[in-house]
Amino acid sequence: MTPEDIARYRAETQGVKHVLHFNNAGSSLTPDPVHNTVVAHLERERQIGGYEAKDEAASRMQAFYSEASGLIGAAPDEIAYVENATRAWDMAFYSLPLKEGDVILTAQAEYSSNYLAYLQMAKRKGVVIEVVPDDNQGQLDVAALKRMITARTRLISITHIPTHGGLINPAAEIGKVARSAGVPFLLDACQSVGQLDVNVEEIGCDMLSATGRKFLRGPRGTGFLYVKRELANRLEPVFVDLHSADWPEDNEYTLAPGALRFENWECYYAGKLGLAEAIRYARSIGLKEIEQRVLGLAKLLREELSKLRGVTLTDTGTRQSGIVTFVKQGHAAETIKMALRAQGINVSVSSGDRARFDLLKRGYHDVVRASVHYYNTEDEIARFIRAIGEFK
Ligand SMILES: Cc1ncc(COP(=O)(O)O)c(C=O)c1O
Repeated sequence: MTPEDIARYRAETQGVKHVLHFNNAGSSLTPDPVHNTVVAHLERERQIGGYEAKDEAASRMQAFYSEASGLIGAAPDEIAYVENATRAWDMAFYSLPLKEGDVILTAQAEYSSNYLAYLQMAKRKGVVIEVVPDDNQGQLDVAALKRMITARTRLISITHIPTHGGLINPAAEIGKVARSAGVPFLLDACQSVGQLDVNVEEIGCDMLSATGRKFLRGPRGTGFLYVKRELANRLEPVFVDLHSADWPEDNEYTLAPGALRFENWECYYAGKLGLAEAIRYARSIGLKEIEQRVLGLAKLLREELSKLRGVTLTDTGTRQSGIVTFVKQGHAAETIKMALRAQGINVSVSSGDRARFDLLKRGYHDVVRASVHYYNTEDEIARFIRAIGEFK
């Protein structure tokens, strides 16, 4: 990615004129083509009616599936458009035929909502949750995962990049274990899709959930689910409606083929077009290029932060993502966030209460999360470092 490329991406990102945005893991700044696509569709809905605008855009709506599948190396019928990553993940997870005694293997850095779903299934059906320990680098210990697989293991469910730290879990190695054991593998790729070059074949996952607004730079309220065709066709979705199923006889229904059965009828159509555009935009830049730039900027940010007195980096893992987390002695993370916001600098706070087996276990209640994207610059990092240095 050349300086000219970055200048062009910034020229197409109006937000960079107003804020220093290190909250791409929260919700990124949308580029102009995405914003314009959403607004144009809303305008057509206003002018000619929602159903009519949808019909008019039918082929562009359909292109969403080829864009999303092309992004992750899947087929278009393996993609469902869902309103966010949580519901996408839920549609897969709650559709699995789990029963009493079945074991779910997950990781210490698992996303909190996913873990709550495991707890609910443990309460409802008596499934057993087993948390695979981390290795000494803080990533999932693949050898331990292998040892923990038994005849009762029904699911391996892992978050690729946690919401609360720089770790990149070794998804492809986990996929190898899952495949050789014949256990379905559900990957929460909410923070990795759009940031890394994610390919479902290379990873070997059977289901994957993603969101629109984070590293894909799409609209809020959009996401998608991937389910491998053979598995999708075997799964009974947790909900059915007139979109995911037909009603051919009084007492019968037939499910839509492939991942379509995980969708529902009404959805945010402007968002669907906007997400398709966001994916097109990312693919036109190149996911490998994006990954290289994001990881390089994050590395620089970590190096510079580590030089500041009183700052402790809290990221783990051998490979680290564009999410950079830290604490500064004597200053609550929330205070830092709000003081930065007053200067036009955006970050988030990640809470240990939502990462009980990771942050909390390591003694962190709140950490500052600064997440970079390819359109951020070295100058922005320098300004950020000065701002953090001001907290004495
Ligand atoms: C790892 C991870 N999974 C899932 C989610 C949920 O995504 P959404 O808000 O789109 O449902 C998040 C959001 O922060 C996340 O970081």
